[in-house]
Amino acid sequence: MDRWRAQAIALLLELPGHFALLATAGDDPLGFGMGRVAADQAEVLTLAVRPSAQRGGVGRLLMQAITEEAAGRGATELFLEVAESNVAARCLYVSLGAIPAGRRRAYYPDGGDALVLRLPLIRPGAEGAG
Ligand SMILES: CC(C)(COP(=O)(O)OP(=O)(O)OC[C@H]1O[C@@H](n2cnc3c(N)ncnc32)[C@H](O)[C@@H]1OP(=O)(O)O)[C@@H](O)C(=O)NCCC(=O)NCCS
Repeated sequence: MDRWRAQAIALLLELPGHFALLATAGDDPLGFGMGRVAADQAEVLTLAVRPSAQRGGVGRLLMQAITEEAAGRGATELFLEVAESNVAARCLYVSLGAIPAGRRRAYYPDGGDALVLRLPLIRPGAEGAG
């Protein structure tokens, strides 16, 4: 999988519906997430926490911020793609309520499968409505 380059990220963020979130401790970057919304569907494009900051709740905070941002932009569901072998990310997504939505066989260069997960979102103000 190619690493995201700064220029590629800057170009992506100029496209409609794309957004990025940075988690910091003071000036120290701890983690980064990027997503996009198209109509009522959202997708996480990338999520990463510095190795030294992992297992400290930063990934969960970033995912909460991404879901809030996506819902605020009108999305009702968020799709996530994750390597089947990525136990940390899978556990994080499932703990947030993500459910299996598909499998991309031999998706990665090492032959591993990608799992597609779907996380229903609650629109701001919709909680308790009806
Ligand atoms: C996946 C990743 C973003 C998680 O970030 P994090 O800050 O370490 O996660 P948190 O500390 O917020 O943990 C949230 C939950 O994720 C799960 N989790 C995180 N790391 C885990 C691990 N090593 N093993 C199992 N579960 C793990 C747990 O369910 C955890 O909840 P808990 O602390 O109550 O047990 C981080 O491991 C990372 O950057 N990995 C490399 C990049 C990557 O794989 N990104 C995802 C691409 S799809």
